[in-house]
Amino acid sequence: MFEPVYLDHNATTPLDSRVLAAMLPYLENRHGNASSRHEYGRAALRAVDQAREQVAAAVDAHATEVIFVSGGSEANNLFLRGAAAAMKPPQVAVSAVEHPCVMKTAEDLARGGLKFRRLAVDDEGRVSLATLAQAMPQGPGQSGALVSIMLANNETGVVNELAPLTELARARRAWFHTDAVQALGKIKIDFRALGVHAMTLSAHKIYGPKGAGALICDKRIELKPQIAGGSQERGLRAGTENVAAIVGFGAACELAVADLATQPARLAALRDTVDRGVSVLGATLFGVDAPRVPNTTFFAFPGIDGETLVGKLDRAGFAVASGAACSSGSTDPSVVLLSMGQEPELARGAVRVSMGRSNTTAQIEAFLATLAKVVNELKQLTAMAV
Ligand SMILES: Cc1ncc(COP(=O)(O)O)c(C=O)c1O
Repeated sequence: MFEPVYLDHNATTPLDSRVLAAMLPYLENRHGNASSRHEYGRAALRAVDQAREQVAAAVDAHATEVIFVSGGSEANNLFLRGAAAAMKPPQVAVSAVEHPCVMKTAEDLARGGLKFRRLAVDDEGRVSLATLAQAMPQGPGQSGALVSIMLANNETGVVNELAPLTELARARRAWFHTDAVQALGKIKIDFRALGVHAMTLSAHKIYGPKGAGALICDKRIELKPQIAGGSQERGLRAGTENVAAIVGFGAACELAVADLATQPARLAALRDTVDRGVSVLGATLFGVDAPRVPNTTFFAFPGIDGETLVGKLDRAGFAVASGAACSSGSTDPSVVLLSMGQEPELARGAVRVSMGRSNTTAQIEAFLATLAKVVNELKQLTAMAV
């Protein structure tokens, strides 16, 4: 296969060979069902329990707070739908830049009668304390509102400072969830210091397998299971555990934590090189005045369509994304950028570069040289068309 340089790690990451090695026995002879009461079952259960410890340790949570699910989308759905059904809160408030699996779920709850607040963001994509304060239920006896604000944005990489927001939410007796899918492995995460009640994680963004994730959830949150059946995951998520994927998720978490000592600084240097390079070429960069995860940069060249640029870069040997991967194929401008106050025309040009473990300085230099060539060609074509 033609293998372009991979610069789309926020969409997914390659499986780490050490993670694969940890998983293989559970795809071969250790094939037991973790609920079975014989040695095959006990071995599977031990492996799931070890992974639970590894995942909890990666975010400074307790193992009993980990609910294994199929990924980030399911964890976000489980929290929002599960807490809404069990606790019947008066309202749900989510930031305007959430991933569709949060936004569409909240909109769905609104159709079911729950009051829905879309929290506006500033021009870097962050929710302010004043915006959250204004959106909280004001009346006496109003408590238990659900709030979901992501830790790091998948498109811009911008990191929300959650601690002041969670403090406010707790004072208003709201339940605060954060989607930390794009933060895990990129910045240090401390479940308790953030002050959140629940947090979403996904394995395939941290060199783990696709199809595994977790909702980290404070025991005081009541959840109605969204998949009924067996009593797996304390009765909160029925279905025979995907043992191999869960083991892979645990191993990936351990490696991600170890990597925090070196990778963020290395990736931030590469990211800064991209930022400087694209600015020189005339790009507008998004979210650069806010703290960002170290691997991500999001930019647009005025007058150049993002999809076209991504297609040309792909053919020239570089795999990058236009807007969010989940909405690729649609020509709608990025909702994240529109919410940040960007013009639709510029937002349509957005391109995301998200780097990872295997990327090198030489690859980034080659990328910038190719980008300069492609952008010049497209500018000439645009000039001829007018
Ligand atoms: C911020 C964010 N949340 C949730 C998801 C969904 O995670 P998963 O693919 O594991 O369902 C993604 C994936 O792109 C994401 O970027």
